[in-house]
Amino acid sequence: MPMSVTKAIFPVAGLGTRFLPATKAQPKEMLPVVDKPLIQYAVEEAYAAGVREMIFVTGRHKRPIEDHFDMTFELEVALEQAGKHELLEVVRGVKPDDMECIYVRQAQALGLGHAVLCGQRLVGNHPFAVLLADDLMVGTPPVLKQMVDQFEEWQASILAVQEVPAEQTRRYGIVAGNVVNERVVDVTQMVEKPAPEVAPSRLGVAGRYILTPGVFREIAAQPRGVGGEIQLTDGIASLLRREKVFAYRYEGRRYDCGSKEGWLEANVELALTHPQLGPGFREFLRGVKL
Ligand code: G1P
Repeated sequence: MPMSVTKAIFPVAGLGTRFLPATKAQPKEMLPVVDKPLIQYAVEEAYAAGVREMIFVTGRHKRPIEDHFDMTFELEVALEQAGKHELLEVVRGVKPDDMECIYVRQAQALGLGHAVLCGQRLVGNHPFAVLLADDLMVGTPPVLKQMVDQFEEWQASILAVQEVPAEQTRRYGIVAGNVVNERVVDVTQMVEKPAPEVAPSRLGVAGRYILTPGVFREIAAQPRGVGGEIQLTDGIASLLRREKVFAYRYEGRRYDCGSKEGWLEANVELALTHPQLGPGFREFLRGVKL
């Protein structure tokens, strides 16, 4: 029987140092873009792709994330009594009834690979998605849904990729391989944050992965990599020797909301397309002196 993707890991233990001081006492995943926190965008994307079990790999100072996905009884009663039904729907919609949220702690910040490994027992022997919430992805269909469709076709790990400028290869996991079609590459090589001179291509991995459970064993066998961290990229590079891995050029746009520039761009563009705020905001921008 073909496997389907019903579980996702959200590594949310990171410090968010690129966004200080906003992230001094607040998780970076709770930064709002227009009117929703980043983590909610990622969870909604996973839900739209058929994922129902959301596994948050969390750490100290990250409680607002757990609170966000809890039921807020007093708020719901207050909105109900005030007859604010639309807002009540907004609040209730944060966690649909058929969605489960599970929290596991990453007791030490040992890297993205280590964070994913913390979810191993909850994932078990199933394929799973990994979503990095600071990469806000906008696509139709949603980017993870596009990847699930690819997974169903190939029954192998799928990595979301995009072409990145040569001078930015140091920011990404970079993959190279054999072209299968205009969107899919059969990956033969993967390197974490290479210098442009040694990068095997300019295909950079965005923060969306669908992985087979075989990757856990590979991550567990990795020594510390770039930055002294246990890297997910190294685990996937090792998986390549045993299993097929495909890179998929997603259709859509990525905003690096872990950086101030990317977050500002996301706010402007998403505000412009917001059904209620868009028209007024467009007017406002027309009047801004540049
Ligand atoms: C992580 C991954 C990297 C990937 C990137 C996407 O890096 O290690 O391979 O390309 O996310 O955003 P980070 O941005 O956490 O340093």
